[in-house]
Amino acid sequence: MPPVITEIEDLRRLHKRRTPKMFYDYCDSGSWTEQTYRENSSDFDLLRLRQRVAVDMTDRTTAMPMIGSQTTMPVALAPVGICGMQRADGEIKAAKAAERFGVPFTLSTMSICSIEDVAKFTTAPFWFQLYVMKDWAFVENLIGRAKAAGCSALVITLDLQILGQRHKDLKNGLSTRIKPTPRNILDLMTKWEWGLEMIGTHRRTFRNIVGHAQGVTDVSSLMSWTAEQFDPALDWEKVKRIMDMWGGPVILKGILDPEDARRAADLGADAIVVSNHGGRQLDGALSSIRMLPQIVRAVGDQVEIHLDSGIRSGQDVLKAIAMGAKATWIGRAYIHGLGAMGQQGVTRALEVIHKELDVSMALCGHRNLAEVGRDILYIPRDFE
Ligand code: FNR
Repeated sequence: MPPVITEIEDLRRLHKRRTPKMFYDYCDSGSWTEQTYRENSSDFDLLRLRQRVAVDMTDRTTAMPMIGSQTTMPVALAPVGICGMQRADGEIKAAKAAERFGVPFTLSTMSICSIEDVAKFTTAPFWFQLYVMKDWAFVENLIGRAKAAGCSALVITLDLQILGQRHKDLKNGLSTRIKPTPRNILDLMTKWEWGLEMIGTHRRTFRNIVGHAQGVTDVSSLMSWTAEQFDPALDWEKVKRIMDMWGGPVILKGILDPEDARRAADLGADAIVVSNHGGRQLDGALSSIRMLPQIVRAVGDQVEIHLDSGIRSGQDVLKAIAMGAKATWIGRAYIHGLGAMGQQGVTRALEVIHKELDVSMALCGHRNLAEVGRDILYIPRDFE
């Protein structure tokens, strides 16, 4: 009997059961005390929806454009590193699910599958996420490959020039070469299906990075290489240079402050993502949804505002749109699907969120997300 999946939490539990502990923990963790990680979700719960009745609910649509392209719903798959360790060929599986569902997929710099392989196995153009490295030739090369692969937008992540610490990854010794400790062996014995699926796909491992980075052979060396390579001197001038080098649509990700939002808008970004990296960087920062109103006030009429961090349901998406975001991105919500059931699990995550979004929008008295505003919410006084 296939498992009955009715909510993202079902996928999370299955992900935990089916994926080696170190890769599950890599996903389900935040930096240091995890306060920001927790509040990203719990702050959504503080916003309450206003129920309306006797409103015509026929002919509803959740379709919305994201940077000019129509989507089934305003939910993009966020860039997530080493998806290919949650499931063999994880990036390809997630990209295929997104393409079939009609939402954008973003490929991380830290992917297991290469830009070229994802392009080979999909037809819809995807977005490429760039971490800015010290080695400018490396950055140019990645941008050139993303262009050649037909990527339709460049996502520049600005909130990870130095790494926040996640205790679980250090304690687990995160690596693609799982050490044969008694704990790891016991863990793998219950997750043998994952292991079977992985066999044979390792030829693809790290083609994205290898060949450009000396000595990178697995996740742990990738982590130390990138920790050295991230450019701590990244500033707005360099961001501008990269935008010019790319020459196409640009999304600046990791904006959490109205002043930074203004800089991003002045630079001519097509969109910004209000994000704290899913609570994985500055522990103690406020949640994205709590920072959204200030950022909407600052630049809402100049740049398309997207939001991520903490979204686990269609109700969360609806709340973000009502608070002024034009679109949302999900990370863990689809990674739980990927780890639980591969491509089918990512599709299921999207179906769950879509249904919750559609029904909640209707019960708030709307047939179209474009007409949804703050009037569908009860907002606590201290939330602004
Ligand atoms: C991320 N995120 C991320 N962001 C990015 O720009 N490049 C990356 O490689 C990664 N890697 C990554 C790995 C994992 C396991 C997670 C959970 C997240 C951040 C991601 O794009 C997004 O901002 C958050 O995941 C949003 O929060 P939720 O939806 O996971 O709560």
